[in-house]
Amino acid sequence: MSTALRPPSAYEDPIVARRSLAGKRVLVVGGSSGFGRQVALDSALAGADVVVVGRDSAKTHATAQEAGALARGKASALAIDVSSDRGRRELVEAVGEVDHVVSTLGGRLEDDVPEDEEDVVREIARRKVHHNRHLVDALAGSVREGGSFVLTAGSTRGNGGEGARAMVAGNEEIEQLVREKALMLAPGLRVNAVAPTWTQTPLWKHHSDADVVAMRREMEARIPLGRTADIREVARAYLFLMTSDFVTGQTIAVDGGYSLT
Ligand SMILES: NC(=O)c1ccc[n+]([C@@H]2O[C@H](COP(=O)([O-])OP(=O)(O)OC[C@H]3O[C@@H](n4cnc5c(N)ncnc54)[C@H](OP(=O)(O)O)[C@@H]3O)[C@@H](O)[C@H]2O)c1
Repeated sequence: MSTALRPPSAYEDPIVARRSLAGKRVLVVGGSSGFGRQVALDSALAGADVVVVGRDSAKTHATAQEAGALARGKASALAIDVSSDRGRRELVEAVGEVDHVVSTLGGRLEDDVPEDEEDVVREIARRKVHHNRHLVDALAGSVREGGSFVLTAGSTRGNGGEGARAMVAGNEEIEQLVREKALMLAPGLRVNAVAPTWTQTPLWKHHSDADVVAMRREMEARIPLGRTADIREVARAYLFLMTSDFVTGQTIAVDGGYSLT
């Protein structure tokens, strides 16, 4: 691998280094794991007060503690399942005002999984769009003027059978949701999304180590830049979008060129 293709060995990101989120309050829904956890930590380093939301109380509090230590400031945890109206109401009441909302909601199904693989993917995609739409609607009144939402789509290709096509359709719906909400909430708020491709995160914890290695190798062979992402490379796109005041309605693929293939 050439030097240019290597992931960063130390995290010296200018967005973080110049404390670009100083004085801001950042709510990270999904902040206890994976991309969201890294966004919470980097936002704290960039000067923000961070509110970490996840379902698992221990993980959520652990990330808030880490973020608080990095920021030497405030970081708090809310263990709430935001997939229901009740959960979203609880979140709105508990959180107060924020400047930015990051959502990494989406991922795998843990219960009432349909039997057919394609139906599983379709249901994951459907719930992802549904939960993010309702989250934006519920929280729009809690975001201060000049703030933003950054959602999570996914960079995928549709040539891997029905399952892949269903996933692509779901991610396209997130991109459409971002455009729709960006127009609806302008000029006060911005709405954008990050679209990662396969990245090793706890999302894959239910697979065996051997399966995860096989998935990673398969993706390394398909991604034009010849490797999968370092999780911090994905997180920095969320910070870029939070701090880019003239960008709205956009989905940024952080995928090593996968979506071009
Ligand atoms: N990793 C990849 O390969 C990949 C590729 C493309 C797109 N994506 C997208 O990236 C997003 C995040 O993925 P990730 O890899 O960071 O996953 P992850 O490590 O599993 O993190 C998911 C986070 O979301 C929280 N969460 C899930 N459902 C929730 C709910 N109903 N209420 C509150 N919190 C909830 C989880 O909290 P608990 O653990 O407490 O439930 C956890 O903090 C997803 O939208 C996924 O589709 C991932």
